[in-house]
Amino acid sequence: MKILAMFSSPRGLASNSGFLLETILKEAEKKGHTVERLDLTKLDIRACTGCRVCWTNEEKACILDDDYHIVADAIADADYLFMATPLYYWWVSPALKLTLDRSYPPPFEKFAGKTMHMVITGEEPPENQCFVGIRDGFTAMCKYIGTNFKYFYTVADPFDKPAKKNAEAIEKAKALGASL
Ligand SMILES: Cc1cc2nc3c(=O)[nH]c(=O)nc-3n(C[C@H](O)[C@H](O)[C@H](O)COP(=O)(O)O)c2cc1C
Repeated sequence: MKILAMFSSPRGLASNSGFLLETILKEAEKKGHTVERLDLTKLDIRACTGCRVCWTNEEKACILDDDYHIVADAIADADYLFMATPLYYWWVSPALKLTLDRSYPPPFEKFAGKTMHMVITGEEPPENQCFVGIRDGFTAMCKYIGTNFKYFYTVADPFDKPAKKNAEAIEKAKALGASL
């Protein structure tokens, strides 16, 4: 299986969400899956301007000349998508939001038939209201666009509770990677 792993924390690949996704990926690679890694924060992905040119031209081409095409090609090539994000203000990171907006043009076939597996870290427990936005929003959105949504949520912060010191989360991440 071809896995595309998109990292989106401004704290880099060693961030909480990045570290847990990398832990998952290493196990997936041991199982023989191929992994392409993209750090969305290092790519020049500009904000959608809302012009809707991509809705109407045949190639669904965007007027912006930046790095988004790298992501679009990688999504098209992948069977399984991982997205690592910190929980930011009840939602995903800026880099992931920019990327998702650029993937928008209906009828949404970019993600159809694939699994979108989000690796999320936040400081509040998952039952807290601030996780509801991603959990319920992405569940509804993925159902609409024909995509299988899964998530792996871990409580973590950069100071007192870094993911690197969370043995239970590391074990769960390894088990997830090995189960693919
Ligand atoms: C701008 C900003 C907004 C945040 N919003 C939330 C939030 O809504 N809920 C939450 O539980 N944690 C929130 N956090 C905490 C981060 O999600 C948390 O520290 C996370 O583990 C960071 O992941 P990273 O190391 O992958 O960047 C926020 C942090 C920042 C900097």
